[in-house]
Amino acid sequence: MKTIDELLTEGVAGKRIFVRADLNVPLDGGTITDDGRIRAVLPTVKALADAGARVVVASHLGRPKGAPDPAFSLAPAAARMGELLGTDVAFATDTVGDSARSTVAGLTDGQVAVVENLRFNAGETAKDDAERGAFADRLAELADVYVGDGFGAVHRKHASVFDLPARLPHAAGHLIATEVGVLKKLTEDVKRPYVVALGGSKVSDKLAVIDQLLGKADRLLIGGGMVFTFLKAKGYEVGASLLQEDQIPVVQEYIERARKNGVELVLPVDVVTSTEFPDLKTKAPGHPHTVAADAIPADQLGLDIGPETRKLYASKLADAATVFWNGPMGVFEHPDYAEGTKAVAQALLDSPAFTVVGGGDSAAAVRLLGFDENAFGHISTGGGASLEYLEGKTLPGLAALED
Ligand code: 3PG
Repeated sequence: MKTIDELLTEGVAGKRIFVRADLNVPLDGGTITDDGRIRAVLPTVKALADAGARVVVASHLGRPKGAPDPAFSLAPAAARMGELLGTDVAFATDTVGDSARSTVAGLTDGQVAVVENLRFNAGETAKDDAERGAFADRLAELADVYVGDGFGAVHRKHASVFDLPARLPHAAGHLIATEVGVLKKLTEDVKRPYVVALGGSKVSDKLAVIDQLLGKADRLLIGGGMVFTFLKAKGYEVGASLLQEDQIPVVQEYIERARKNGVELVLPVDVVTSTEFPDLKTKAPGHPHTVAADAIPADQLGLDIGPETRKLYASKLADAATVFWNGPMGVFEHPDYAEGTKAVAQALLDSPAFTVVGGGDSAAAVRLLGFDENAFGHISTGGGASLEYLEGKTLPGLAALED
């Protein structure tokens, strides 16, 4: 995989460089609530601009339906990038149309432009190779060189991720190089004990990675909404908690395989419950109760791991040499149900282990709960991408940068 450093050595002055970033940041109206993904691509954008390139940054944001939708505009992300770079960043109001073409044509050496959301074009995500290819052809007209740096999207076989690098000389940006370097430490020659804390709501999203980890990790700590499918699989009643009934047989097989492989699969011993899901907008006080994990009342739903479990999980993380954490332990957006996620984050900070926080919600949780993100070993910008990497899948956006 060619690196951006090699590209810079060859010289990029005057060249139009297309940087495929992942600027898929959370928005509240037009306000960015976590700009981590914008900051993560700055080293690449800055290095190229400082070397005199004409930098064209492109990304998706959210999941618009293949047509312009103002709610998913990249304009706020472009403005924030300008603030962070301390320079004007031009913004094209389309992706490959008149605005994009004239904005790119107007760039001088060292200037940066952001084009509008790639997913405003049906070709970006099309299943049909020819449709994706036709859109990639139009994107290719905007640039001389492609730099892949949208780690969060490398698991998507999309035009700007997979088809475009085949049409232009290409290299990997700083972010992708860092992310891949870190994930390699979790797959090749991992330092043991290797402990994985997995949360998040749906067990179905995590099945493939659990399947892999049962052959790799020494210990798996389970939290978040998916806990209840595990508890039910063990024969406990889970009240009104989130449950994926159809996944119970798979989870039972995993529990059995963990036992056979000597992988310690750790489940909560107590749970914080309530009769209702909390209001995340008003943050009005909930009505939390702590109950034993095998005694959840019929009218209660589980919203966080309980205090005994927090201690248990902290002790299971304390002697780790390597930790991977993906997914919050509870509904961390509400203060009544944030303690489990906080406890895991704190245990990671207290541990001398090499720690990786895997993207998406867990990265946002770390920042939202006020932790210093620099104190963690590595916070990945890609939730789905890092999971698929650990599953051992070929990621289209990395494969495309290989040759
Ligand atoms: C993410 O948020 O995980 C990435 O930006 C990918 O977004 P997607 O799941 O909508 O493809």
